[in-house]
Amino acid sequence: MTDQHSIVQNIKEAAAYIHAQYEAKPEIGLILGSGLGVIAELVENAVTISYGDIPHFPVSTVEGHAGELLLGTVGGRHVVLMKGRFHMYEGYGVDTVSFPVRVMKELGVGKLLVTNAAGGINTSYEAGDLMLIKDHINFTFRNPLIGPNLSELGVRFPDMSEAYSKRMREVAKAVAAEQGVKLQEGIYIGLLGPTYETPAEIRMMRTLGADAVGMSTVSEVIVARHAGMEVLGFSCISNMASGILDQPLSHEEVMETTERVKQTFLQLILGILPRL
Ligand code: 6GU
Repeated sequence: MTDQHSIVQNIKEAAAYIHAQYEAKPEIGLILGSGLGVIAELVENAVTISYGDIPHFPVSTVEGHAGELLLGTVGGRHVVLMKGRFHMYEGYGVDTVSFPVRVMKELGVGKLLVTNAAGGINTSYEAGDLMLIKDHINFTFRNPLIGPNLSELGVRFPDMSEAYSKRMREVAKAVAAEQGVKLQEGIYIGLLGPTYETPAEIRMMRTLGADAVGMSTVSEVIVARHAGMEVLGFSCISNMASGILDQPLSHEEVMETTERVKQTFLQLILGILPRL
């Protein structure tokens, strides 16, 4: 196990490497899910860094996820963007998955925008809907903060009562209304994957209050909240979860739907960023 000192040291070394390629302090961090890397096209004067070149950074493997960090501006705001993220189903530990968020914090990021592709559990949703994440349920039963608390990074027992910033959600809703974009708001439940769920599991999760299900986001958001970052999250409902429609689930459908809605999603994010 890596000791406390070397975790903090690793964060600092990764941030120092990035800072050497891009001097300005990024204010907003973006983590983009499956098929949503298109948002990277918004970044002006981008400096691109391969994950493999950043000390202590893991490298992504799954189809549809690039492995690059972009730094640049969007609407005049300095951003750092992860094109492709790490998932526990790839075999990464919860520390690895959330490490980039800690590096972002070290770079000066105070606001984090996360996106993912998710299955719709709420039967009033349909594939192609965008959902503002109001709250999450951690069904990974892993927590990146287990172990000695790194007090340089945050408190021992972080408050999670407003994991997803109410202020930023209001901004998102206002922008969606102005753009005439339909925006659902609901609870994201995060699992390890890589299997999609059974119909019985989906019925259980609906009973528990979940509206959308996915395999990412919760670890990153926990670390972000520990670090005192303000978080805004969106799910692209790429398909309905199992047992709702009489059809099997596939990664192809996830990619097709995200491809179909990406321009709408892009415009929404572009509208929101300058107002965060
Ligand atoms: Cl239905 N389940 C999970 N766990 N992740 C997903 C999904 C479903 N659809 C897209 N991502």
